[in-house]
Amino acid sequence: MTDRYCVFGNPVAHSRSPAIHARFAAQCHQDLSYEAILAPLDGFAAAVGDFVAGGGKGANVTLPFKEEAFALCIRRSARAEQARAVNTLAFVGNEIIGDNTDGAGLVRDIEVNLGFALAGKRALLLGAGGAGRGVIAPLLACRPQSLFIANRSASKAEALARQFADLAAVDAGDFAKTAGRQFDAVINATSASLAGEALLLPTGIFAAGSLAYDMMYGKGETPFLALARAQGAAQLADGLGMLVEQAAEAFLIWRGVRPDGAPVLAALREQLQA
Ligand code: ATR
Repeated sequence: MTDRYCVFGNPVAHSRSPAIHARFAAQCHQDLSYEAILAPLDGFAAAVGDFVAGGGKGANVTLPFKEEAFALCIRRSARAEQARAVNTLAFVGNEIIGDNTDGAGLVRDIEVNLGFALAGKRALLLGAGGAGRGVIAPLLACRPQSLFIANRSASKAEALARQFADLAAVDAGDFAKTAGRQFDAVINATSASLAGEALLLPTGIFAAGSLAYDMMYGKGETPFLALARAQGAAQLADGLGMLVEQAAEAFLIWRGVRPDGAPVLAALREQLQA
């Protein structure tokens, strides 16, 4: 029987996950189905219960349910605990097991797809919401020379720096506090571009040869990447690769085989530009 998987979100109609997982399944010769399920804002747990009762084997979770998914799990991976959010559920026996593959997806896209090694680099993370928190531990695992977390409201960035203080020395503050410093990798995890708002970054923070990475993506260049380009960042990337690689990591958890993200990313990129 075909194994069932899905992504829960609200909204979810525009999710690219079904297309990504269909390509992965074909590439890896896996017999599975993957659908998008719109869960009511007050009915996430019930929607998961229905899916499990219908024979579901696993699920991805997107906005706004990642924290609720975290609470629903009986067991969670260390990286889910660090992110305090879950984007991948596996239904094994009577248990719901939670993981978070977002940070792994980001790191894989940066290091493998983009060929940018984070070890020894000065990294700057913009944003201290759920998306930012979810990628901090995987970023630190790459052994950057330093990590600065900058956020519009400094207190949230400082709280995150304290949370991860046992992993590495992490500095934090508002955007203005980055003035006079230079970074080799600047990663945007804010939702500013969703609102069409530009980030108020000091000039001169992009070091020679630096990477600017926006966890968001869209048809054209995102406002953050346009700003980074204007400020002289050498390499620009949006979050489409992260999306594909977090999905590949989820596929690995469910099926025990890691799909090759690169051809799927190339196909997706073509669709996005069309
Ligand atoms: P997500 O799950 O996408 O991280 P979130 O938890 O609501 O969503 O966090 C949104 C992040 O984007 C926060 O870091 C937020 O900054 P504040 O903590 O100061 O609110 C940031 N953000 C949103 N709009 C922004 C803007 N116009 N300029 C700068 N930062 C912005």
